[in-house]
Amino acid sequence: MNNKTLYVFALALAGLALPLSNMLGFSGENKPIPVVSGSSERFAKVSEIFQNKCVDCHSPGMTRMPIYASFPIAKQLMAKDIENASDRLVLSQQLYSGENTFTPLMLARLESVLKNNSMPPALYLSMHWTDKLSADEQKLILDWISEERAKLPLSADSANDLKGEPVQPLPLKVDLDAEKVAVGQKLFHEKLLSGDNTLSCSSCHDLNKGGTDQTKVATGIKGQQGPINSPTVYNAMYNIAQFWDGRAKDLQEQAAGPVASPAEMGANWDDVVEKLKQVSDYQIAFDKLYAEQGLTKTTVTDAIATFEKSLVTPNSRFDQYLRGNNTILTADEKAGYALFKENCTSCHFGAALGGLSFEKMGVENDYFKLRGGQLSEVDNGRFNVTKQEKDRHFFKVPVLRNVELTHPYFHDGSVAKLEDAVRIMAKVQRDKDFTNDEVNKVVAFLKTLTGNHE
Ligand code: HEC
Ligand code: HEC
Ligand code: HEC
Repeated sequence: MNNKTLYVFALALAGLALPLSNMLGFSGENKPIPVVSGSSERFAKVSEIFQNKCVDCHSPGMTRMPIYASFPIAKQLMAKDIENASDRLVLSQQLYSGENTFTPLMLARLESVLKNNSMPPALYLSMHWTDKLSADEQKLILDWISEERAKLPLSADSANDLKGEPVQPLPLKVDLDAEKVAVGQKLFHEKLLSGDNTLSCSSCHDLNKGGTDQTKVATGIKGQQGPINSPTVYNAMYNIAQFWDGRAKDLQEQAAGPVASPAEMGANWDDVVEKLKQVSDYQIAFDKLYAEQGLTKTTVTDAIATFEKSLVTPNSRFDQYLRGNNTILTADEKAGYALFKENCTSCHFGAALGGLSFEKMGVENDYFKLRGGQLSEVDNGRFNVTKQEKDRHFFKVPVLRNVELTHPYFHDGSVAKLEDAVRIMAKVQRDKDFTNDEVNKVVAFLKTLTGNHE
């Protein structure tokens, strides 16, 4: 069924079922669940709203079905709603009772539907008009979201009035074993990691080029052109998983990949370990730092991952603003941040402004049609990992720290200028045509995200 037929069905259904459902109410009643003791008074009210107006679709298994949901078409519609809704947000009983805390991702998605006034869905409201959120309820939930964000560890550094923001400052210092960082740094620049001793990690992740190679797609050994753009290694520790499609669970697992990939460094780990063992500096360092295991694939990738965790870029002008320097940003940069919060923070949130979710490239408009050219395998994105149709064209949301340096943009490296990347994002993710003035303001804001690395 396409959307239009669905809509016609739903209208017919509404005509039929509307009086019935509103007269007869629900076939089963969920008993309201009190929040756990210690929860804020505000959360108790928020929980009540969630239980009354949201869990029907967002808490699979817990759902009370309206009477009409036993009609064949309505049943299908409700089942589809519940499936789609739970892909995006599961309001489990543990969450709305206050037993578990909401993740930053849940808060970001909730904030966006509240600001856009898009939940519950319009079709559903045509049958359950009393479930529409009032302005007071919206404000209450938004205030609670700020309250939750203020509790995040990284918010501790923000000025009091900015603790509830969707973005937190990067920490000025990270606690790591300095000797491991030093060995990892040497390995990151070590060409012995490649099959023909020509490439190191830094060949494609140049720390003086924002942690990227600033070219469309990466070039592996023997000049082989790769299929995809090199993402930055700066702040990569904030990613939920590594690679555009998230196929490596963490930095250590990731670091094993390029070495053995024929198209990248084209080596095999046994050879690499043998080559490194010939270098006495490494031998000595690994004997000391990893006394039990010595120099192995596991310890080499651990050292590299430890170095990568040190690649945080704090103290950008934007972070100074978050810490309370209210005069450091220009009026245009602040206006750009406001536009960014209105349109972008459902996906680009958190200390790195991204990295915390997989999202579709082209939520509102088809990016690949706009780009032109043939679809390649990497365009499938997350689908390549999960093989689930619903993940096609989903990518890990890239971090936007230092984004002025990490050009060209997108997984295909197809966009050279930040202005164009912003314009395309507004169009394909939000269905908005940004004016030049809006684009310039957002770009001005994004340029305040460039930080320092010693
Ligand atoms: C009739 C079923 C239904 C009800 C009731 C409902 N939702 Fe949804 N919700 C959906 C569906 C379907 C989606 C996924 C598709 C979409 O985004 O439109 C969704 C998506 C969402 C998302 C994810 C948005 C994103 O990022 O994609 C959030 C957050 C959300 N709903 C919150 C709420 C809240 C809060 C309420 C109660 C005030 C609520 N929903 C009530 C069906 C429902
Ligand atoms: C030939 C170029 C090349 C070399 C050499 C290389 N990389 Fe990469 N790196 C890439 C590309 C391209 C991707 C993205 C691949 C993908 O997502 O499918 C990537 C992804 C990554 C990511 C994931 C970042 C993110 O946001 O998901 C990290 C971390 C990383 N590389 C670190 C390393 C380390 C450590 C080494 C050395 C052991 C290394 N890379 C060697 C090109 C390279
Ligand atoms: C629905 C989630 C979502 C929203 C909303 C969104 N983005 Fe993105 N953004 C993504 C994803 C996913 C990518 C990676 C897509 C790809 O490479 O194919 C991305 C990529 C980018 C990039 C390129 C970064 C790089 O290193 O290649 C920029 C810049 C960007 N977004 C800015 C914005 C701005 C500005 C807005 C608001 C106008 C915005 N985004 C809204 C999900 C989103």
